[in-house]
Amino acid sequence: MVYTVAIDGPSGSGKSTIASKLAARLGLVHIDTGAMYRAVTVYALENNIDPKNEEAVSASLKDIDITQTPDGRTFLNGKDVSKDIRTTLASSNVSYVSIYKDVRAFLVELQRKMAKSISVVMDGRDIGTVVLPEANVKIYQVASVEKRAERRYKENQEKGIPCTYEDCLENLKKRDYIDSHREVSPLRPADDAIILDTSDLSIDEVVDECEKIIRNKVNI
Ligand code: DC
Repeated sequence: MVYTVAIDGPSGSGKSTIASKLAARLGLVHIDTGAMYRAVTVYALENNIDPKNEEAVSASLKDIDITQTPDGRTFLNGKDVSKDIRTTLASSNVSYVSIYKDVRAFLVELQRKMAKSISVVMDGRDIGTVVLPEANVKIYQVASVEKRAERRYKENQEKGIPCTYEDCLENLKKRDYIDSHREVSPLRPADDAIILDTSDLSIDEVVDECEKIIRNKVNI
């Protein structure tokens, strides 16, 4: 059967890692919507467009084509930008870009198209509330900001991305604030979402929990 799983939650709650593992386990296509907001940000940064300039960023959308491959890579106008979207510069500018109405409308439409007629697990901030309100399963992951900063710091260390724990903590606090206070599609759980606190769980434990929730809701 065709079914959709929405995973939402704040930055650094491990959504993308979990969604990607779930996709492999259950044979779903993983769509990482955060990567798409990041790709629009990278386009602006690479083309001397100020990410704080809403008009200029919105006008650039007509020149942007974003695709994702099943192995988790993100392409911007045919170029693999999987690494560029994770830099500190992209991370600190993406919250500006993701509040713009036109950017959201553009990406929501693309995300809905990508999820049409196939079984997907899509992760982001507004998947259960806006993008796929009819999703069969909605999971909202939470974890303390300190725990998320610790994870982000470790992840960056492993990838050789320079930053301190304090940088990660500040960046996450700032993004939490912007994401939950913005006018369009603020970060919040859907009324019918299941809240999953991952603070004290390992990645595999979270994947196990999500699989249980999905199997409970969907006949697979
Ligand atoms: O999940 P992430 O950290 O890669 O997301 C990057 C940014 O994109 C984050 O600051 C919020 C924004 N975002 C959003 O507004 N809506 C989504 N569906 C996904 C991400």
